Amino acid sequence: MTNLKLAKLPPGSMGWPFIGETLQLYSQDPNIFFASKQKRYGDVFKTHILGCRCVMLASPEAARFVLVTHPHLFKPTYPKSKERLIGPSALFFHQGVYHSQLRKLVQNSQSPNTLQKRVADIKALAISSLESWARGDQVINTFHELKKFSFDVGILSIFGQLDSNYREQLKENYCIVNKGYNSFPTNIPGTTYQKALLARKRLKEILSEIIYEREEKKMVEKDLLGHLLNFKDENGETLTKDQISDNIIGVLFAAQDTTASVLTWILKYLHDDQKLLEAVKAEQKAIFEANDGGRKPLTWAQTRNMPLTYKVLLESLRMASIISFTFREAVTDVEFNGCLIPKGWKVMPLFRNIHHNPEFFSDPQKFDPSRFEVNPKANTFMPFGNGVHSCPGNELAKLEMLIFVHHLVTRFRWKVVGSQGGIQYDPFPVPQNGLPARFWKESGNLN
Ligand code: HEM
Repeated sequence: MTNLKLAKLPPGSMGWPFIGETLQLYSQDPNIFFASKQKRYGDVFKTHILGCRCVMLASPEAARFVLVTHPHLFKPTYPKSKERLIGPSALFFHQGVYHSQLRKLVQNSQSPNTLQKRVADIKALAISSLESWARGDQVINTFHELKKFSFDVGILSIFGQLDSNYREQLKENYCIVNKGYNSFPTNIPGTTYQKALLARKRLKEILSEIIYEREEKKMVEKDLLGHLLNFKDENGETLTKDQISDNIIGVLFAAQDTTASVLTWILKYLHDDQKLLEAVKAEQKAIFEANDGGRKPLTWAQTRNMPLTYKVLLESLRMASIISFTFREAVTDVEFNGCLIPKGWKVMPLFRNIHHNPEFFSDPQKFDPSRFEVNPKANTFMPFGNGVHSCPGNELAKLEMLIFVHHLVTRFRWKVVGSQGGIQYDPFPVPQNGLPARFWKESGNLN
């Protein structure tokens, strides 16, 4: 860091003492807050939100510097209250050897070999969800229902086939933990946060029982639990029960709301562009017909060859940018392009601003899957993050979304109910009210 002495804090304003610019951030659309700052100060600017001094990074080079080329200078940082709910040993709170060991286990449990074997089970979950939505004349909250689907897919990739009794117990308690995650952390008994901590304790007990049974049966499985149980480091040390349960809850947390919100956006974008929907349908119907009208199962190879649907998926990830930004903390004074990032300051790579920058994506507010006919410029498209903490579940997420869309458009129809505009932060952006919709089976469908 030869220029550290000369480096100056980046431009920007720090707002009021103590509260900084938090009020401005929360009194307007966060995208407008960041975009107006970027316009005024450039791609690297300072601000003060939620009690933290921050440097915002809205250029691909700055994001790459923090996430890919200099990750050792920036540690992951989460509020302690959230860390307690997920579990402090979950991989995303860590750096170094422990992080890379755990990450490898998650990656191995998502290898193409293992994912291929999940296609039939994910299909069964997708069909069972869709069938239940199409029963009667009900209006469903699409996001909430998709959360159940993505939870079940998460359970599948962690445990393989899990006894339904355990699955329901995990779902019930995880749901309470999930509610507490965005509540105000307090020690007062009976509050949403305290209920979440109690449910977290129960989750650990249920996980201990499942682990005990698995050990008793001496089963060696290729799912995440199998990888966690079989792990030994170079000294022969295995993982503790806490490390195992924290990482299981961490993966459930990382897998559920993310996938469900992207899928909800896909359903909205397709609904809003009937011509595009017809084109996606034609692509999927061709596969459906090749599978003897759905009598033969959808194969892994077919999921790898859905060019239009895949572009719709990428464009939905860009447009919705459900992970708008991430946080890291400088572990030492760092210089980037003449700017000083002081030790202890947070840095926030702004994925959404990069995804919506007309320099990288022309007419960025337009939903246009054809833009992905050419690859985006390096480091400008990061829906799954970048570098050492990038998403190890991205292939599973893409697979489950493609399988879901295949069965949705070949066998069902849907209509959004009520006002169709607006975004709700839950905390990820989702269409207003979770996209209320009616689903029904396409007539003449045998299956
Ligand atoms: C469309 C769905 C998903 C999106 C958009 C998404 C996005 C992301 C992003 C942006 C990060 C990096 C965060 C950062 O750098 O701070 C991340 C990390 C992570 N994701 Fe995903 N994710 C999705 C689905 C999944 C699924 C299905 C799993 C399950 C295996 C998963 C597991 C993880 C884990 C364990 C991490 C932490 C990795 C680490 O710290 O090394 N994600 N995800």
